[in-house]
Amino acid sequence: MRPARALIDLQALRHNYQLAREVSGARALAVIKADAYGHGAVRCAQALQEQADGFAVACIEEALQLREAGIRGPILLLEGFFEADELPLIEQHELWCVVHSLWQLEVIERSAVRRPLTVWLKMDSGMHRVGLHPADYQAAYQRLLASGKVAKIVLMSHFARADELDCPRSAEQLAVFQQARQGIVAEVSLRNSPAVLGWPNVPSDWVRPGIMLYGATPFEQAQAVAARLQPVMTLDSKIISVRELPAGEPVGYGARFVSERSTRVGVVAMGYADGYPRHAPTGTPVAVDGQLTRLIGRVSMDMLTVDLTDLPQAGLGSRVELWGKQVLASDVATQAGSIPYQLFCNLRRAPLLYLGH
Ligand SMILES: Cc1ncc(COP(=O)(O)O)c(C=O)c1O
Repeated sequence: MRPARALIDLQALRHNYQLAREVSGARALAVIKADAYGHGAVRCAQALQEQADGFAVACIEEALQLREAGIRGPILLLEGFFEADELPLIEQHELWCVVHSLWQLEVIERSAVRRPLTVWLKMDSGMHRVGLHPADYQAAYQRLLASGKVAKIVLMSHFARADELDCPRSAEQLAVFQQARQGIVAEVSLRNSPAVLGWPNVPSDWVRPGIMLYGATPFEQAQAVAARLQPVMTLDSKIISVRELPAGEPVGYGARFVSERSTRVGVVAMGYADGYPRHAPTGTPVAVDGQLTRLIGRVSMDMLTVDLTDLPQAGLGSRVELWGKQVLASDVATQAGSIPYQLFCNLRRAPLLYLGH
């Protein structure tokens, strides 16, 4: 059997969820959209079910997958519904629903829902992606209340630059939000992972941690709370071939690496078809049998090459951590010009194996 695999540490997932609640002092919706950022939504939801205040996903298909697996409790649709005919399903499965547009508001007003909905009313406080214009927010809130179709409204917005700790934009967005919601007494939800970790003074009854649940930092620089996260996924494989090359020999496609000295090259059963980033350059960290070394040459579809020159004990069958508790996914992402979010979501082919339950 090919040795590439992704080990998922469910205890670490629970630790990170607890950390989000502890540092925010708020209720937390575990963001498990996109198959829990590649970690397997059903297994992650099952692992968190006892402790979680609820879950958040991107669309009804993801929510129904959880319901079919027996996940009860709140599930928020982060973009609400895309088509009006989703509303009966939202009602039937008691899903919570973001309303980010006047079109969605009108559909709810015209709908025949009998069991009043829980709506998270989203404001565009400055990200300029989705959300109601601040000037329309109060009226939308009143219309929802008056519709008789809604039992509860949570006030919501989303930060564009919370991962930049010195950037004034989050404070500006908060000021826009507070100004526009003045006078409305309701629960509030503003913070994603970087805001949970880095913006303690942003008010929140509900937080929406995603990437931090999986143990990866959203920040480019070290940050005290992020240092307490435990990586959940370990992507690893084994050395399947070793060769000794004299100085001056190229390795792999395009000869992107040429040995500067006599070099021992290890070939690892892991490639971009598994989701390892093809753009990771020579020098990207990997750990072989617990010792740090570097990727060399271009990443192929099914294989990649690492430098074993200074690891004489390592050889055929040695275990290679591509990312995990020793090599941080965020460091690999930085090297590859990506983000840990994308690395996790791109995971394919390598089977997910769960530690704990
Ligand atoms: C509305 C909303 N809230 C929360 C999150 C979670 O973000 P993060 O993974 O940075 O915690 C996302 C993710 O994109 C989102 O779109």
